[in-house]
Amino acid sequence: MSFQIPRGTQDILPEQAAKWQYIEQMARELCRRYNYQEIRTPIFEHTELFLRGVGDTTDIVQKEMYTFEDRGGRSLTLRPEGTAAVVRSFVENKMYGYPNQPVKLYYMGPMFRYERPQAGRFRQFVQFGVEALGSNDPAIDAEVIALAMDIYRTLGLKKLKLVINSLGDIESRKAHRQALIDHFQHRIHEFCDDCQARLHKNPMRILDCKKDRDHELMRTAPSILDYLNEQSRTYFEKVQMYLQKLGIAFEVDPRLVRGLDYYNHTAFEIMSEAEGFGAITTLCGGGRYNGLVQEIGGPETPGIGFALSIERLLAALEAESISLPISEGIDCYVVALGEQAKEEAVALVAALRQEGIAAEKDYQDRKVKAQLKAADRLHATYVAILGEDELEKGVINVKHMATGEQQEVSLHTFISHMKNVLQ
Ligand code: HAM
Repeated sequence: MSFQIPRGTQDILPEQAAKWQYIEQMARELCRRYNYQEIRTPIFEHTELFLRGVGDTTDIVQKEMYTFEDRGGRSLTLRPEGTAAVVRSFVENKMYGYPNQPVKLYYMGPMFRYERPQAGRFRQFVQFGVEALGSNDPAIDAEVIALAMDIYRTLGLKKLKLVINSLGDIESRKAHRQALIDHFQHRIHEFCDDCQARLHKNPMRILDCKKDRDHELMRTAPSILDYLNEQSRTYFEKVQMYLQKLGIAFEVDPRLVRGLDYYNHTAFEIMSEAEGFGAITTLCGGGRYNGLVQEIGGPETPGIGFALSIERLLAALEAESISLPISEGIDCYVVALGEQAKEEAVALVAALRQEGIAAEKDYQDRKVKAQLKAADRLHATYVAILGEDELEKGVINVKHMATGEQQEVSLHTFISHMKNVLQ
């Protein structure tokens, strides 16, 4: 019997993993600079959390959740996204009482959605996301967007498009919602089943329909921007002003609605405009969710955040032919010749490692030539050769692979010598 990986998932093999680590470290470093702290929540949560948090009219909840019953009969769900869980933890741990507000959090980890797999769309994917809870200042919206852009820019991506919109507050949304129902209802039978179901539940989502996107009523649909009340409009203008202050270019797209229910006011997405990037161009999505903390049982608290997947980020890097500066070689390969030298090599490699040096030796009983080849394959900066003669003389031959320069070093000073030359 042979086994295959489940559909929509992938193994990240060592060469790829080095890229992942590079990106993860860079994201953590940017979070340090922006003062976001890490939070780790469970991979699964009570199903009810996502029904409430993400919203039961969303595709995620209706079609995409990995939901199961545990042995105690509880309904649990593998998290399809991070925001609901972070907000759950924020409420449960009473972070609204922390002296430092807003509470600025980030997370990184696997999310699960039962979607139709295709390029850039997985059933298990890794999101990096941030959530800033407790501030109603449009400057924090701009900060969150700036952090997302910073991640892509730091990695060298250039072909990016930032699209923003405002979904307004409850009052604005209500007015727009009625306008949408009035606009679509007399011809809703010309739309797909999903749109028909959404007309009264969540008409804004009709604007996001892929199947009916070319229907003439889509083009003439009322724009949310015409329904923003004074407060919402001012808020949106300030977000734009701050983005300009930060030198971040953006486009306003009143059709940007996002696929999750919790958003209001600012919504944004970052797309790749690189040629050949594929059909799914969204790299990152986020927005403000001022009612969510209350929905999940906490006090009224505003929030904003975003999430991006590392998978799509890697695809964007590939589309722009950007290679990451990953050092792939080891520092020193110890080549041993003869039984005694082999025994000594075990101790030498251990001592090198104790000093923080990446060291390797042979475990396949190879001849010297094959050991040298192995060192080459591992891109060793140095090779140290220990034969019987050297052992007798108490020395070891250290060769710098790039220059071919060789030096005989006393075994007593070998470790400190390597430390010096590798500095
Ligand atoms: P989302 O738009 O559902 O938002 O997902 C955010 C990002 O996750 C997408 O832009 C994409 O990069 C990535 N993503 C989503 N689904 C997949 C998939 N099947 N395969 C690969 N990548 C995927 C959220 O999840 C919100 N929680 C974002 C947020 C945080 N809003 C406020 N705070």
